Amino acid sequence: MIDARSYAREHAPRFRQQYEALLRIPSVSTLPQHAADVERAAQWLAGDMRAIGMDSAEVLRLAGGRHPLVLGEWKGAGEAAPTVLLYAHYDVQPAAMEDGWDSDPFEPVERDGRLFCRGSVDSKLHVMSQLKAVEALLASPGGAPVNIRVLLEGEEESGSETISAFVAQQPERVRADVAVISDGVVLAPDQPSLVYALRGIATMELHVDGPVQDLHSGHFGGTLHNPLQALAEIIAQLHDAEGRVSVPGFYDDVVEADAAERALLAHTNQWSEREWEAVADAPARHGERGYNTQERIGLRPTLEINGLGGGYTGPGFKTVLPQRAMAKISCRLVPDQDPQRIHALLQSHIAAITPPTVRSELRQLDMGSRAVTLGHDTRAMRAAAAAYERAWGVAPLYERAGGSIPVTFALQEVCEELVIMGFGTRDGRAHGPNENVHVESLERGITAMIHFLQTIGRNGELA
Ligand code: BES
Ligand code: ZN
Repeated sequence: MIDARSYAREHAPRFRQQYEALLRIPSVSTLPQHAADVERAAQWLAGDMRAIGMDSAEVLRLAGGRHPLVLGEWKGAGEAAPTVLLYAHYDVQPAAMEDGWDSDPFEPVERDGRLFCRGSVDSKLHVMSQLKAVEALLASPGGAPVNIRVLLEGEEESGSETISAFVAQQPERVRADVAVISDGVVLAPDQPSLVYALRGIATMELHVDGPVQDLHSGHFGGTLHNPLQALAEIIAQLHDAEGRVSVPGFYDDVVEADAAERALLAHTNQWSEREWEAVADAPARHGERGYNTQERIGLRPTLEINGLGGGYTGPGFKTVLPQRAMAKISCRLVPDQDPQRIHALLQSHIAAITPPTVRSELRQLDMGSRAVTLGHDTRAMRAAAAAYERAWGVAPLYERAGGSIPVTFALQEVCEELVIMGFGTRDGRAHGPNENVHVESLERGITAMIHFLQTIGRNGELA
């Protein structure tokens, strides 16, 4: 038997093949036509959990749940050892060639040191980092130094309702001394970061209705309020000239950062700005006045229009006066904003500014999730910092992430300590066309996870 790091190095080519096999399964959670693929991915993962020697692996289907959870357990470290819960999600965002992919979104291909495929960085990189670190530890002398639960979710990209219900109803099945949420990105490919906060989210749909059906814009144009125009007018009133959200009450519960935290984030900002140039590269930056890029991403709430629909957008022209228009809206939330309250505030504001010439309705799409903030100086955080340093050869900076992982708030309630460990990079283009991962990311992820679990096994004593 060899030690876990050497085992991982020796088996790296097979790990890569398995990662590619998982990537080929288009486990898109939001589209009903991919439900069988999500199921297939769940079965694949449970099979791998059994193959690597976990004591049990279950594909859990909850009543009313859309997609299964996969839960694996290994208790070989004994009752006195701590239990670590590893969480990641195996579902992915939709992807199609016509969105601008340069190759088939579900066929992994390597170009210039990167592997391109939907789900490569978000988040099958994390699923495989967890499973292969566990495999390497179980194959090493003495097995893993901690008891392990691996909980994989198939609905993260579409609201996480099933897992949130599972954690609330069966907390004893997820309870652990330490939980690792494995998701997200480091500051830059060669600068790891430790994420100590995530934003929450509230998702909504705004519908604006006008005439009884689509009408000829020659017969009726100029006599009624075009719903697309009315929608644009409403949306244009949701921000002020300073880039602030102009919904009354929106900032009421927002916790302002103190000077110490803003100083900490100032170190991270130059990296955020550099990554912005390299990845977003829009004509100019735009955002809330008075805050730098890292603060705008991590510390401030937002209101975004994620999509607009209505009227005719096909080839050629159709002189139509549309019956209705729709906008998808989401708000990123910070502590202590409540998604329900944010929805209610928006609802009354939109009702107040909707002109009498159209009808509007703001629908909440799911329960939303609250922001989370973690302490820096816990045993698990110190172990995570050491793990990043081991895998990257560089100490991590501390960062607030702008994304949301809905289950985090619930896991924080049932696990004593929680850390967020992401191994992706922003240039991995998560959610967009040509999603990709640097080929060395999987090895770094596995190394970091092995090191982290070994440190927790020594009760947090750094090696
Ligand atoms: N990987 C992201 C979350 C993330 C992004 C964490 C950046 C840390 C930094 C995750 O897969 C995701 O995209 N979550 C969604 C949740 C939403 C659909 C409820 C998000 O943030 O948009
Ligand atoms: Zn995502």
